[in-house]
Amino acid sequence: MSNQALNAALGIVKGLSTVALSDSNKGPLLIVENEMAHCQISLFGGHVLSFTPKHDMRERLWLSERAIFDGKTPIRGGIPICWPWFSAHHSQLQAPSHGYARNQYWQLTSANEQSQKTSLRLTPTTTDGFGYENLAVSLEITISNTLELNLVTTNKGDNPTPVTQALHTYLAVSDIDNIELEGVDASYMNKLDASKQNPCPNPYLFTQETDRIHVYNNADDTLRIEINDSCVNNTTKIEQQGHDSIVVWNPWKDKSATMKDMEANGYRTMVCVEAANTVESDHKLVIAAGATHVLTQRIS
Ligand code: BG6
Repeated sequence: MSNQALNAALGIVKGLSTVALSDSNKGPLLIVENEMAHCQISLFGGHVLSFTPKHDMRERLWLSERAIFDGKTPIRGGIPICWPWFSAHHSQLQAPSHGYARNQYWQLTSANEQSQKTSLRLTPTTTDGFGYENLAVSLEITISNTLELNLVTTNKGDNPTPVTQALHTYLAVSDIDNIELEGVDASYMNKLDASKQNPCPNPYLFTQETDRIHVYNNADDTLRIEINDSCVNNTTKIEQQGHDSIVVWNPWKDKSATMKDMEANGYRTMVCVEAANTVESDHKLVIAAGATHVLTQRIS
């Protein structure tokens, strides 16, 4: 990461009491500590790694013990930003999976703090590439009792531009056998066999590899999801807006064994619930010239 970007971040955090910049073995991190929560954000990928509200001191996010912090590889765990496409690019098959935002350093551009709430804004170093030159993106992160992420995309060009994207959130659970997902009720496309319109499981339990795109065609709706963890008797709440899809992913045992940054039993203590816009929806996100789209996820 360039000294210029580090110095810019240092210049912003210097005047703050709730944010510090740390150069750790995980690379450059923003460490947020306010009255309500503790949070760590990697400047690589603009990637939230950890969020712990102080009222219960429970880590909400899962981070792989084998995550690679080499400043090149996307980080396994936390909240990767998939942008400006989700999954494989529709025509550039060599292009990186989930876009290029998570494979580069981001810059802290502004910060605001009160004793109980810290808000940060980050932008990637570049948004140029593959026909997305006219898009600008920023990530607004607000840390309080709730972690709120707003992924803000603006079309600065003269033509409407289709975008797919995801806040690819890895949530920590006691054990995958103990959890039930509530609030996801739309039918899904199964990425494992490409079948469409599969009915949503009810109850939503996890017993095998899961890679599903649940399609919500009304993007204006606020969706409230809960992960109920029966073993430790707690609930992680997720609220989201600006999505047309919810991706639910767990690689399970065999797929995990093929992933160099996933520990053998890591799949047991995580589940991804992703606020997304995908090609599966009828709605398909197209950002009009001059318009801005906001994808929001709140975790508590
Ligand atoms: C999910 C996709 O969002 O991300 C899965 O639906 C994919 O198909 C998973 O395997 C992880 O992707 P990656 O690129 O971080 O290994």
